[in-house]
Amino acid sequence: MPVSQRIGTNALINMLGDWSLGRGVPLHTKLAEAMLDAIESGVLPAAATLPAERALARSLSVSRSTVTAAMNDLKSRGVLESRQGSGTRVVGSSPAQDPGATVLPGILGRGSVPVGAIDLAASVPADARALPQVEVDLAALLRAGPRHGYTPAGLPALRLAVAERLALGGLPTELENVLITNGAQHGLALALNMLTNRGDSVLVDEPTYPGIFDLLSARGLKPIPLPRTGGGIDTAELRRLVNEYDLSLAYLQTSVHNPTGFSMDDWQLRSLAKVCDELNLTVLEDLVLADLRYDGSRPTPLAGRVNHASILAIGSLSKLGWGGLRIGWLRAPHSLLERLIRARLSDDLGSSIPSQVIAAGVLASFDQVAKVRQETLLCRATTTSEYLARELPEWGLTIPLGGLSMWIELPGPYAEPLAQVAARHGVTIATGASASVASEADHFIRLCFDRPETQLMEGLDRLVQAWRAVC
Ligand SMILES: Cc1ncc(COP(=O)(O)O)c(C=O)c1O
Repeated sequence: MPVSQRIGTNALINMLGDWSLGRGVPLHTKLAEAMLDAIESGVLPAAATLPAERALARSLSVSRSTVTAAMNDLKSRGVLESRQGSGTRVVGSSPAQDPGATVLPGILGRGSVPVGAIDLAASVPADARALPQVEVDLAALLRAGPRHGYTPAGLPALRLAVAERLALGGLPTELENVLITNGAQHGLALALNMLTNRGDSVLVDEPTYPGIFDLLSARGLKPIPLPRTGGGIDTAELRRLVNEYDLSLAYLQTSVHNPTGFSMDDWQLRSLAKVCDELNLTVLEDLVLADLRYDGSRPTPLAGRVNHASILAIGSLSKLGWGGLRIGWLRAPHSLLERLIRARLSDDLGSSIPSQVIAAGVLASFDQVAKVRQETLLCRATTTSEYLARELPEWGLTIPLGGLSMWIELPGPYAEPLAQVAARHGVTIATGASASVASEADHFIRLCFDRPETQLMEGLDRLVQAWRAVC
C-alpha cells in the first residue's frame, strides 16, 4: 500500500483497523500494539510522520492522555521518536524484528523469511501476547522446586497441573505419567529415540505436521503416509498399511489437525481406538492443538479410549500460549515414562525453571487463556476465508474447526510458483509439499492466520497480488 511520508489522521485510523476491540487490556496498550503491528507489517513505513496527538485523539474518540501514553510506550521501545518542531516519526520496527531473528528454518516455514516480509508460513503464534501476566522473580524461582534448579521430569507442580488438565479433558492422568519436555518436538524426539531403530517405517497421517518429517529423516526412519479422509482416518486403510509394512508405530494427530484444521469426532476416535487395540499399535498421539477447537469442545483423546494399545500423548503450550516458552509434555504409561526420564536426563538435564513457572501460571488461568485464543482464532479464520473467498473465488477454502492455519486447494499445481512470487511480494506461505509426501501436494498451500489483524490483512493483500501475478 503506497503511504505518503506525512500520515493523515484518517489514513492512520484505516491502518489501525479494529484496534480497540477486546477486553481486559488498557486502551493505550491496545492503541500502542495496533500501531506496532502496522509498523512491523510495513503498513506504516519507517520515516513516516504521524498526525498531532490532539487531532488523533479527537478522530479516535479517545482522550489525549490515551494517545500520549501509547506514543510514549512506542518511544520507550525505540519505535517512534519525537523531534522538536517536526512531530513524531516512525523510526522502524521493534528489535524483535531484527534481520537475524527473521531467518526461520524447518517447521517455521521451511525456508527463510525475507527481511520485511509478512510471515504467514510458520503455523505458530506471532508473539507472546496470549500469555497471561506471570511474575517470575527470584523469590518465585527459589519457591519453585529444588534449589539447584534441575528437574529432569519437570517441576512437580507443573506435572500435576498438566495431569489435572488432561484428566479434565477425559484422560485420567497422574503426576507420575507426565514428563515435562522442551516443547512437543522434544517429546516426539524422545519417544522416537526410545521406540525406533534406524531404517524402521512409521505410519504418519497425510498431510501432516511438517516437523515430523524432520524428526523421522534425522533418525533414518521412513514415513508411510496414511491419507486423511475428510476429518478422520480411514481405519481399513490403516489396517492394510500396518499389515503390508509390518508397522508397530504410528504418529497421528487425533485432535485439531495441522494443517487441515479438521478434528476427529467421538465416533471416529472410538473406531480408531478399536483398531489400535486390535493391531496392538503404539501411537504417538499429537494433541498440540487439542485446546484450540473454536467451539471449546475436546473429545476424549485416543489415549483415554484404548484398552491395551500403548499411546504416548504429546502436548505443548506453544500454540495455546507461545512457542518461545518451549514447554510441552509427554504422557505415557509408568514403565515407559521411567525410561523416557532416564533418556532425557542424558539429553539436557531438564527444562528451564523460569519457563516452567510461567507454564504453571498459564495452566492456572487455562480457561480464560483458551477462551480468548479460541475466539481470536475463529475471528481471524473467518476474516481470512471471507477475504479470500471474495478476492479469489477459484481457491478451494474450508473454514477450519480449530487451530492456526488453513489448508487451501489451488486450482492447479501452483503452490511452489505461488510461494516464490509471494515472497517477492513480501509475504511467505508454506507449500503443501512441506506437509505432505503425496504427489497432489503441489495443489495445496498452508496459510497461518494467527497474526495481528493489520499484519494479516496486509499479508493477504500481498498474497492476492502475488496470485494475480502468477496467473
Ligand atoms: C501438530 C504439531 N505438533 C508439534 C509441534 C511442535 O510444537 P512445539 O513448539 O511445542 O515443539 C507443532 C508446532 O508447530 C505442531 O503444529
